Amino acid sequence: MENKLTVKDVKIRDQIVLVRTDYNVPLKDGVVESDFRIRASLPTINYLREHGAKKIILISHLGRPEGKKVKELSLKPVAEKLAELLPGIQVDFVDDVSGPDVEDAVKNLKKGGILLLENLRFYPGEEKNSESFINEIIDTTGAGVFVQDGFAVIHRAHASTSAVAKNLPVYAGLLLEKEIGSLEKVLKNPKHPLMLMLGGAKVDDKAPLIEAFKNKADQICVGGKIAADGAVKPADNIYIAEDFDEDGEGNKLDCGPLSTAKFVETAKNSKTVIWNGLLGKAEDVAFATASTIFLKTLGENPNIESIILGGDTTAFAEELMKEDDALHFSLLSTGGGAALEFLSGNNLPGLEAIESK
Ligand code: 3PG
Repeated sequence: MENKLTVKDVKIRDQIVLVRTDYNVPLKDGVVESDFRIRASLPTINYLREHGAKKIILISHLGRPEGKKVKELSLKPVAEKLAELLPGIQVDFVDDVSGPDVEDAVKNLKKGGILLLENLRFYPGEEKNSESFINEIIDTTGAGVFVQDGFAVIHRAHASTSAVAKNLPVYAGLLLEKEIGSLEKVLKNPKHPLMLMLGGAKVDDKAPLIEAFKNKADQICVGGKIAADGAVKPADNIYIAEDFDEDGEGNKLDCGPLSTAKFVETAKNSKTVIWNGLLGKAEDVAFATASTIFLKTLGENPNIESIILGGDTTAFAEELMKEDDALHFSLLSTGGGAALEFLSGNNLPGLEAIESK
């Protein structure tokens, strides 16, 4: 990150540190289904502990409860998962974000202990970008340092991403630094040839990316439902999948061998590949072929700088990495919307709120 201050630029020792994470993770029956975003928050937590933080208070949202308490969207299961990932370290949870219970929970933390507060979006102040809401959290916890590490939510102007900067200086966490650093590199100084691979179902999300990259990318390739629906116009450097695997009813559910071969050949001839959106209905193994072949092409070629974006695409990569731990990617981004907006050249309120150098 070129011009922003990070957690490495501030004194951590003996401080109570408030960290905004993005623990918006999939839950099933009250259990965390994917711990990808939780694991991604560990480097900052470990850094703070290693640098003598007195107490670490984590805040996050989960889902879209719209200012109301929704039992199913409590962050308690996330605290349980975090405790599993940090054996031997105090990890507590409190079902509020300010007030006496939080005060007591902070008091009960030992040196270097971690406390996760309840879902910020249970309170209307979060999405209203309310200064008094975030100030109450800061006052109750006694935090002296605020670290922004919720990369996936920095495109939102919310109290914990934006208004917070009116009360405390905001420093970038290590995850945010890594994600923005990788994306800045491909935006400003990519190694060419640069390929943009797009898939998925929603063309509205991809259109700004195509616009931002049509003069930057050497080749844009389009697969997935947006290709099958003919939602993107071909152009000189835009190749749209030309054959598809279909189900019995003639629905085009995966890219066919010709298109897949073209994607693979283009990737192998590229130095940088940005990929967002699955190439078929990959949750159905019968239609996961193009995505699997393409992912392996990236993961098995260390010469390709590979940036993978978006919840479905990164979750798919995570699954394959469980089966094959030799697969390596330059960046598996934790942020879908945030990464797309950044690459599309939009201003991100949560990034603007971070102290400049
Ligand atoms: C995400 O999962 O993309 C982030 O956590 C942001 O969530 P939101 O789209 O509900 O703001």
